[in-house]
Formats: sequence, C-alpha cells, structure tokens
Amino acid sequence: MKRFTIADLAAWKRAGKKWTVITSYESVTASIFDEAGIPVLLVGDSAGNNFLGEENTVPVTVDELIPLTRAVVRGSSQALVVADLPFGSYEINSEQALATGIRFLKEAKAQAVKLEGGVRVIEQVKALVKYGIPVMGHLGMTPQSVNALGGFKVQGRGESGERLIEDAKALESAGCFAIVLELIPAELAAKITAAISIPTIGIGAGIECDAQVLVWTDLMGMTPSRPKFARAYRNLRSEMVEAAREWSEDVASGKFPSEAETFH
Ligand code: KIV
Repeated sequence: MKRFTIADLAAWKRAGKKWTVITSYESVTASIFDEAGIPVLLVGDSAGNNFLGEENTVPVTVDELIPLTRAVVRGSSQALVVADLPFGSYEINSEQALATGIRFLKEAKAQAVKLEGGVRVIEQVKALVKYGIPVMGHLGMTPQSVNALGGFKVQGRGESGERLIEDAKALESAGCFAIVLELIPAELAAKITAAISIPTIGIGAGIECDAQVLVWTDLMGMTPSRPKFARAYRNLRSEMVEAAREWSEDVASGKFPSEAETFH
C-alpha cells in the first residue's frame, strides 16, 4: 500500500480538509492507528515520558528513538512516519542536524523528521530540506526547552505572539512542510494558520489549526492524568488493570487455562 506523502498534506491544506496526527512508539499501536486511517504517525520524543519512563523528553537520545521509529515504520503501511530529532541532536549546526536526519531516514526508514524552534534552527531546516529530508517544525511550548520555559505553560501571549508568527513564516520559507503549534492561544494559532500556506498541526492550540495531534496514551486514557487540552476517548488503563486482575484471579481459582486452551 502506498503511504501518504507531504504532497497529500499540502493538498489537504488547499482543500481545507482537516486531518490527524498521533504519536506511536512501537509496531502494535502503529498498526492499530494505521488501520484507523490516521495519515501521520509521529515517533515523538514524548516516548521519553510515555514509553521510556523518563520525566520528560530532554534525556531521550537518537539511539533510543531510532529502533522505536523502525518499529513504527514496520508496523504501518500507509501512514507517513515522522521522527522527532531528540534534544542535543541538531542544535549545534546544520551538519549535525543533517547527520542526525540522515540516520533517521537510512536506519529507521522514517519519511520525515521534526525539530523544535523557529528562526534559531533555520539553517538546520534548510540543510535537511536541501538534501531531501522533509521537515516538520514545532513552535510554542517546545518540550525540549521545558527547563528554560519553567514548565509546561501557554506560550505566545502578548507581544511574544508576533515572534511566533515570524518564526512560522521563517520555517515556511526554509522549506518546512508543516508546523506543530503547541500550547498557544487559539486566536494566535488561527492567525498563524491564515498567514502561512503549509499546514499547522495543533496540540492545545484551538480549533482553527489545519490538523490536530495527540499523544496516544492521552487519547486512549492510558495515563492516570492528562493535560487540559487532551481528551481521553477511551479508558484503556482501567480496562487493562481489570483484565490483568481477572486473569490473575482465574489462575488462582483454577479457571485458566480451560480445557479449550489446553493441548493433549
Ligand atoms: O513528542 C511529541 O509527542 C510531540 C507532540 C506533542 C507534538 O512533539
């Protein structure tokens, strides 16, 4: 089956069609979300706090994210797979960014990469795009800068909103194919979405973005708590706790395995 491409996303922006992105960190969820028809799977560095047991995304490394990305590519057949460039793997210069981007395409077979920041990473974006690596930008609350931003707070209120609009325009000019807008006022996200011709992907950025992204563990209710902007469409955590308890009780009481589950 043919995968969605960045050309499809550009066409959807022109047509005013809204779409979704979901995170995935391994092949099972990748195949489930692929079957659901979600066109873009993001192997986010949110793997740090949603898969690897870290407090946040900062400690995540390229060597940790590459096998997860490879698993998501193997588990999917139609989604466009985007891999996050982890903190420390692209900031130094465009050579570093290019070397990391190449690893994600060659070793993990990702079809695109994502990095955080605006004007400050423009040279990196240009180098990646120049050598054939599609780049998704990420503005607003950029989790790799959580220590500098002093926590997960709404960004872009007041005058700093103008800077975000300039950042978005700079990322578009440098060749990004889409931009994630995280935790910014809906009115600002609407302005950015109208000001650029590439798709915006909102997370805590209101209804006017061209697309929406959620972390899958939030969407499915796997985490005990979630941010205000994330809606849990199911409560899989309690389902799984119940199933595990039921099975343990059945083993203890001799109800599992049954005759039908037994070989002779
Ligand atoms: O790492 C991630 O999951 C992300 C999304 C929140 C956009 O960057």
